[in-house]
Amino acid sequence: MDPIYLDHAATSPIDPQVLEIMIDTYKKVIGNPESIHSFGRQARKVVDDARHEIAKSIGARSREIVFTSGGTEGDNMAIIGAARARQALGKHIITTDVEHHAVFRACEYLASCGFSIDYLHVDASGRISLEELEEKLREDTILVSVMYGNNEVGTLQPIREIAHLLADHQALFHTDAVQAFGTVDMDVKDTPIDLLSMSGHKINGPKGIGFLYVRDSVSLAPITHGGDQERKRRAGTHNVPAIAGLGEAVALVRANLTDRINTCLKLRRIMLDDLTAEGANFQVNGNPEHFLPQVLNLYFPGVAIESLLTRLDLEGVAASSGSACTAGSVEPSHVLSAMFGSDAPETRSSLRLSFGVENTEDEIHRAAQILAKTVRALSTTGKAGEIK
Ligand SMILES: Cc1ncc(COP(=O)(O)O)c(C=O)c1O
Repeated sequence: MDPIYLDHAATSPIDPQVLEIMIDTYKKVIGNPESIHSFGRQARKVVDDARHEIAKSIGARSREIVFTSGGTEGDNMAIIGAARARQALGKHIITTDVEHHAVFRACEYLASCGFSIDYLHVDASGRISLEELEEKLREDTILVSVMYGNNEVGTLQPIREIAHLLADHQALFHTDAVQAFGTVDMDVKDTPIDLLSMSGHKINGPKGIGFLYVRDSVSLAPITHGGDQERKRRAGTHNVPAIAGLGEAVALVRANLTDRINTCLKLRRIMLDDLTAEGANFQVNGNPEHFLPQVLNLYFPGVAIESLLTRLDLEGVAASSGSACTAGSVEPSHVLSAMFGSDAPETRSSLRLSFGVENTEDEIHRAAQILAKTVRALSTTGKAGEIK
């Protein structure tokens, strides 16, 4: 039996159409877009066309799109770049307890440089409260960074409300849209977002490429120093084939957004129905109303997550948890800790399944059976006793 890949939030397989365009670009477009000769102009056109396609997809202007190496660089560029450019206006930044490390660690770095960081708490469903944001907002707040949708539990944040709340404040609004981009319709004209980061490899696009949307009126201090590429916002020779692939992947998302959403919702429903029919004991982590369709985080009471993941892997099902294995020990997920408390059993017994458009219904039926069987086995072999 072929293994079943249910870890699309980690990374997703490349769409064949995207790959074809990349290979074609590698073969036919050899110039550097900064060169003025015909080879350079040909490469420049590829970059311009992709930029145009990407800008259209979020209601932005082409010049507001900066190509990056992915989500991590986009987050760092937005947060560190905005903080450095705006420190004369204040040194206070607000973010949340459930951000990806790309945001967390950029904020920690800024704290070490003398910025003051406030973290918004989340409720048990993973949502922040606008009231807490209002309370924490200060005159010297220069940046608020709240992720669009969470990578571990899929909870969507009230992005539109946050953007409107900040509209009359000096603070810029950055959102990490790395997980949300392929299954949420977003428009920076409707929703006044100043900075939005995304990554190609989460949407069946190329790895090592992404973009940061930077509202026209916003200036960032560059975090890399070198050439004048990307209107002096991101130095370094363009990765033209990857940019061509990203443009195509974004165009495909745009053309098929409703289908992408409905496919993931259907796969999610099948998984939940099958687990219920199999009599599995589980709870869904995350917000029941505001969630990313492709992410399903499940708590299996009394089941040790490391054993579950290992056994699933042996049975051919690739899933994940929010835990990070460091030097042989498993660190509980900071997201689940923020939602339930650091000692809560959910932090040690929760599994993340993340679906993709190439998953078939048959795969999900099979995966649900394997999962239910494995959970049953682990609950009865005494492994459950390992978790308190
Ligand atoms: C929410 C979120 N932000 C940022 C990143 C980092 O993106 P990249 O892998 O493209 O650097 C990820 C990747 O898992 C993510 O899930």
